[in-house]
Amino acid sequence: MDKLASSCFVQHGAPSQSLKLYGLQRPSTSLLTSGRRSVPILRCAAAAKETSVDDINGGDGFDFHCYLSANAKAVHDALDVALWGLRCPASLSASMRHSILAGGKRIRPVLAIAACQLVGGAAAAATPVACAVEMIHTASFIHDDMPCMDDDALRRGRPSNHVVFGEATALLAGDALLALAFEHVARGSTAAGVPADRTLRAVLELGSAGGPGGIAAGQVADMQGEGDPSARLPAMKYILVHKAARLVEAAAVSGAVVGGAGDADAERVRRYAHFLGILGQVVDDVLDVTATSEQLGKTAGKDAAAGKATYPRLLGLEGARAYAGELLAKAEAELDGFDAAPGSIWLYGLSCGL
Ligand code: IPE
Ligand code: IPE
Ligand code: MG
Ligand code: MG
Ligand code: MG
Repeated sequence: MDKLASSCFVQHGAPSQSLKLYGLQRPSTSLLTSGRRSVPILRCAAAAKETSVDDINGGDGFDFHCYLSANAKAVHDALDVALWGLRCPASLSASMRHSILAGGKRIRPVLAIAACQLVGGAAAAATPVACAVEMIHTASFIHDDMPCMDDDALRRGRPSNHVVFGEATALLAGDALLALAFEHVARGSTAAGVPADRTLRAVLELGSAGGPGGIAAGQVADMQGEGDPSARLPAMKYILVHKAARLVEAAAVSGAVVGGAGDADAERVRRYAHFLGILGQVVDDVLDVTATSEQLGKTAGKDAAAGKATYPRLLGLEGARAYAGELLAKAEAELDGFDAAPGSIWLYGLSCGL
């Protein structure tokens, strides 16, 4: 991993960063009193890089932030390997690596791994799906930042892709990451011993989240809503669900599916992740108003400047915060059915960490 990538990962990739900024942080004791599982909370003294992911995943104790950091780093390293030595023009490879190794909280891939473990699967079975989700997410960011869309020069603490590599290469790097995501799932899941029917279901989930049923539709609606003072809640919800929540759903469901989830469990995971995904975008919209560019690693204040349809604009900051609280409660309620499962506490923690 190159030095720049690793330092940006630390700076803007801290998984709890948006949580702390937003103020949704939950004291760790609430994990003890959640009634879902009595888990001794370990203070994880070791930095994530010095701690074995298997120790955290398999140990008796559980520290949510340690779990998130260690799995985020494992995904980061797997992405580094997946994009190492690509047989393509050097500028394309550099452009893809620039964005995907810049860090980010890695919430979606860690959610895929947690959902896999929730239903009894091993983290290794979900790693290809986790990497693919992050490739799709990063591709959407490369395109989102381009002058024809949000025209943003800063992403994850680095100059946006098109600023460094030019618009044509950035466009193609996004396309390439999107295509590689599906190649990676097919190849990686097979190598990890995931049965072909599960891999196929994961591919269906990921594909439906990235295209006209998901990100592409939400992004078009987001742009059409720019500067429209008459935008109302249903239109806004459409934008959030499609541009953000569908991929979070796909991350969780595909992780659960490769882990062997039956239909009922997969649908419960989907409902949980649906609320979590909307919550993530509401938090993102609030932070656009309340945080600084330095804290976010991307340009703050862009939504108001572009006249975007956001919850803070329609409901005010307090209204948006209250809505986020409702979404969090709804997400958590979906986990009730997993009381007996050892992984439920991990997903519960993730709902606080997005
Ligand atoms: C923010 O996503 C924008 C959305 C699509 C909700 P994240 O806040 O997860 O961004 P990274 O991956 O940490 O950079
Ligand atoms: C972007 O939403 C969503 C996707 C890239 C699909 P935003 O435009 O709000 O994301 P940021 O604020 O640039 O991260
Ligand atoms: Mg946008
Ligand atoms: Mg944007
Ligand atoms: Mg935003």
